Amino acid sequence: MTLKWNDRQERRITWALLSSLVLMLSVVMVPVLTEETNNNKLKCDLLGDEEEESNRERELLQKLTPLTSLSFSTDVQEGQKKYTYKFKVCGAAGNDTNGGLVQTEVDKETVIGRFNETHIYNGTDWIMLVYKQGDKYNNHCSKEERTAMVMISCLTGTLGKNFHFIGEERGKEKNCFYLFEMDSSIACPKVDSHLSLGSILLIVFFSLVAVYIIVGFLYQRLVVGAKGMEQYPNYSFWKDLGNLTADGCDFVCRSKPRNEPAAYRGIGDDQLGEETEERDDHLLPM
Ligand SMILES: *[C@@H]1O[C@H](CO)[C@@H](O)[C@H](O)[C@H]1NC(C)=O
Ligand SMILES: *[C@@H]1O[C@H](CO)[C@@H](O)[C@H](O)[C@H]1NC(C)=O
Repeated sequence: MTLKWNDRQERRITWALLSSLVLMLSVVMVPVLTEETNNNKLKCDLLGDEEEESNRERELLQKLTPLTSLSFSTDVQEGQKKYTYKFKVCGAAGNDTNGGLVQTEVDKETVIGRFNETHIYNGTDWIMLVYKQGDKYNNHCSKEERTAMVMISCLTGTLGKNFHFIGEERGKEKNCFYLFEMDSSIACPKVDSHLSLGSILLIVFFSLVAVYIIVGFLYQRLVVGAKGMEQYPNYSFWKDLGNLTADGCDFVCRSKPRNEPAAYRGIGDDQLGEETEERDDHLLPM
């Protein structure tokens, strides 16, 4: 039985093929297009009005976004007293609305730094986050506001851990600070994930080949009504091409022609003589 397709059926199938192709393409394109639109506003406030902020600082801050979901805490024993330091990236770590880094001792909370005055800078494999405008010192450092500095070092495979208190510098007249450190993969140098032109071309080529085979297969099967191997697109062309390639390879790669014409026998035959005889042996009827 042969299938007969009328014009309407044929058109419907062509449309079905075209729309599935469009669907496939959009599935590939959607992640590429949505990647750039993730631009949520962080609560950290850099120095200066919106337009006067440093682009470099804003870019770095954006990089810290994944850390905002985490809270960090570390305990420090100093003599009889036990202090707990709590830290959040661009969020309130304690009871103070702007307190990004706070110290608690029993029930007493002291704000070490507020994220409404954030400074941030970086090097190859580290980021330094500074919160200023903490609570004022009572006696030290000319009674200035406290400052918290958090050094974030590169550690692959972790979003954020090992938050530690390093120490407090309060012997200076001004610019005292509390220093902390932690590890995170976001401080790591960006690996160049961009594909080279060569690999893009290869991917495009193989995708086109795949689309060619799938669409051609469906076309041969559904529209032409082919069976078996004939379902592959341009089957006879590829079959011919395969045969031609094999012939070509045979011609180029074989050191000696398979059916040596008598005319080529001559020079060097004495060396080849035995070998030729051996090779012909199997052709003789036993
Ligand atoms: C940050 O907030 C505190 C109160 O929480 C306020 O006293 C201070 O002036 C603010 N600093 C800036 C730079 O907005
Ligand atoms: C600091 O961060 C920016 C923004 O992510 C980056 O372009 C720059 O290369 C970093 N600086 C160093 C020294 O790695």
